Amino acid sequence: MNSVTLKKHRALRGEMTPPPDKSISHRAVFFSSLAYGKSMVSNVLRAGDTNSTINAFRMLGVEIEEMPDGSLSIDGPGFMQLREPPDVIDCGNSGTTTRLLAGVLSGCRFFSVLTGDQSLRGRPMGRVIRPLHEMGAMIAARDINRYLPMSITGGGLKAITYKMPVASAQVKSAIVLAGLFADGETVIEEPVKSRDHTETMLKAYGADVCVDDLKITVKGGVELSPCDMTVPGDISSAAFFIAGALMVEGSELLIKDVGLNPTRTGFIDVIRKMGADVQVLDGRELSGEPVGSLLCKYTDKLSPITLSKEDIPSLIDEFPILCVLAARAGGVTQIRGASELRVKESDRISAMATELGKMGVKIKEYDDGVAIEGPVELRGSNNLQSYGDHRIAMALSIAAISAEGESVINGTEAVGISYPDFYDTLKGLTH
Ligand code: S3P
Repeated sequence: MNSVTLKKHRALRGEMTPPPDKSISHRAVFFSSLAYGKSMVSNVLRAGDTNSTINAFRMLGVEIEEMPDGSLSIDGPGFMQLREPPDVIDCGNSGTTTRLLAGVLSGCRFFSVLTGDQSLRGRPMGRVIRPLHEMGAMIAARDINRYLPMSITGGGLKAITYKMPVASAQVKSAIVLAGLFADGETVIEEPVKSRDHTETMLKAYGADVCVDDLKITVKGGVELSPCDMTVPGDISSAAFFIAGALMVEGSELLIKDVGLNPTRTGFIDVIRKMGADVQVLDGRELSGEPVGSLLCKYTDKLSPITLSKEDIPSLIDEFPILCVLAARAGGVTQIRGASELRVKESDRISAMATELGKMGVKIKEYDDGVAIEGPVELRGSNNLQSYGDHRIAMALSIAAISAEGESVINGTEAVGISYPDFYDTLKGLTH
């Protein structure tokens, strides 16, 4: 296990570009692999999670080649021509790989088995298995169809109408992907809008997808065409540096080329309501997604905020770093309706309550969220744990650079899941 020791930083100044968006990178590999022909994907994230997706599609017979400039050339055989994998597919730590792949493999007339690391084997899979069973896939999974490993024998799917009980872009995407293989029109209804990259991108690959507010309709049997695209920067990775700039005195940081899809920008909206100084510059479009640069400045006054169920999906991955910022706000911040956070790469509610408690934060844990009372001067701790979770490791590292004294964060290798250069970037910005 790796450890990193950090102490209070001086200002974060200058400019940086966050790594490519993880969700969009996964989807670019998925849809290019399902299309018939060669797609070129530039600025694709190369990190633990997206490498799991690339490996999976190579096992399914797709030719994926890395170009000298780092772009991926993906030669898809057509969505009905994937081949049976010769071995178990290891999805590593990646929930997106697993759940989206379950949708694809449900449409394929062969046998496959998915598994993953210890964290992934503890995450709920019933939520994808139930609708895919309804569509006709034969799926069996550990502990009465709840957990990985999971075996799938697909093919012969029928379209369904499905009302999703939880807001989850992974589950939505799994059903949309299975819908591509199904006979007829599949209709999915979400309880709250989750990230919509699947719907937007699939249209660019030629799929027949219609979105009407919370309702998505996808027509089966339509061949996907290849597509050349560039992946924007990841707002969920940028969020750590946005928070760092807001909290470390004297900071002024320009974060460039960040994806600003409205289904992902809940964190920006919320911190602005809290009083953060974040400006969007150079707003434009890149491969169908809104992007821009963010100018973030130190703020000595933050107000508390109250968030409930409807607010969570657009900032779901920013919960750990939002907890750190809330400790700086003058009053009680309530984040509720967020029980999904208990089944992420770690139990993020319990992880943040325990670790921020070590840094002197007054934080109360609920089944579905936290209450954080600020403002507190964060205190360094020599025993912080990542729980093997990339976003916990990065949130605690940002807390550490704004805390009095020294902190040791254990399990920092987890950052390789979404942001392998995180500590190099952090070092490069400190003055
Ligand atoms: C993701 C969806 C979200 C998010 C995850 C990535 C995606 O998960 O937390 O990091 O790319 O679709 P859920 O679908 O479980 O909410």
